[in-house]
Amino acid sequence: MRTLDDTPLGDTQAGVGPDVLTDPDWVVPPVPQDVPEGGMAWLRARVARFSSGEAHARRRALAAGLLGGGGEDAADALRDAARVRAEGVLGGAGKGVDTGSVDLMARVARVVPAEVLAGFLGLPVTAETAGLVGHVARAYHAHGETVPAADRALARLVAVCGGTWDEATAARIGLLVQAYDATAGLIGNAAFRMLTEDSRERPAGPVAAAVTAAVTDWLDRTLSADPPVRGTLRAPADGGEPVRISLVTDDGTFPFGAGPHACPGRAHARALAAGVLEALLVRGCRIVRPDLAYEPSANLRVPVKLEVTCA
Ligand code: HEM
Repeated sequence: MRTLDDTPLGDTQAGVGPDVLTDPDWVVPPVPQDVPEGGMAWLRARVARFSSGEAHARRRALAAGLLGGGGEDAADALRDAARVRAEGVLGGAGKGVDTGSVDLMARVARVVPAEVLAGFLGLPVTAETAGLVGHVARAYHAHGETVPAADRALARLVAVCGGTWDEATAARIGLLVQAYDATAGLIGNAAFRMLTEDSRERPAGPVAAAVTAAVTDWLDRTLSADPPVRGTLRAPADGGEPVRISLVTDDGTFPFGAGPHACPGRAHARALAAGVLEALLVRGCRIVRPDLAYEPSANLRVPVKLEVTCA
């Protein structure tokens, strides 16, 4: 599927850097607003991510309200829930009937954060939750295209949220969708870094202060050297073609963006990823094949597959 994010727009235009993210003369490329309920165009038209001005402020406040303050209690709860779920999946790897490896991306990174976040947002979590979010996330940036599987998944998610096609529902689903690829990429890139680096640096065993500190350090290093979201689009506010803004620059990275659209889920994303990394350490996991391929996307860096076995 071709998405706006993958459309060749030419390289980042000379002189247009991340500073435009805080420049009111540049906006997120607008999407059609007069669209019917029932499909992906409706979701894009109602979330903060593709809005500007007053509508953006209103929709962002809805999203931020659902996320809460991102305080330590919430972060601890997300991290613990992610660790417990990930430990459960990884516990089977290499043992009993499951004698092989586990694909960390498919079984953990693309499932656990979506399930934990859905629970955090007050939604019932079922075996189909992560799959539905994944279908919607794959079509999120496919502006102008109709993807029936994504439309069907969106309708199911709206039903799970109570069945009302309004901005509050869009905000909840938008959070799950925004988190989906970016958090999977953060987990995949940080896990790869952690499991391929010198194992003497790697604490093992039950979660202790040393594990928590090491995980924080691997997340920091991944976010500055190998962030999962590497670019975004902006267009001149008075019209004109969208330009790709690189979030990875010579003088620093902007892993969570900047300006009015900066990621409001930063603390939640870090907590979810930390829980999964802790589970990898607690379970003594090792990488099976240290070669990595990435999903085809100009703006995202998300491993396709990461096979691990666990002690
Ligand atoms: C729990 C996980 C996450 C949640 C709930 C979340 C939520 C969001 C939301 C709602 C927005 C749109 C804000 C707006 O338009 O006002 C956003 C933007 C963004 N997020 Fe996240 N996010 C998550 C994880 C991540 C991760 C792991 C990264 C990368 C390290 C990331 C990077 C970004 C970036 C760069 C933007 C700005 C996009 C732009 O300006 O075009 N997010 N996020």
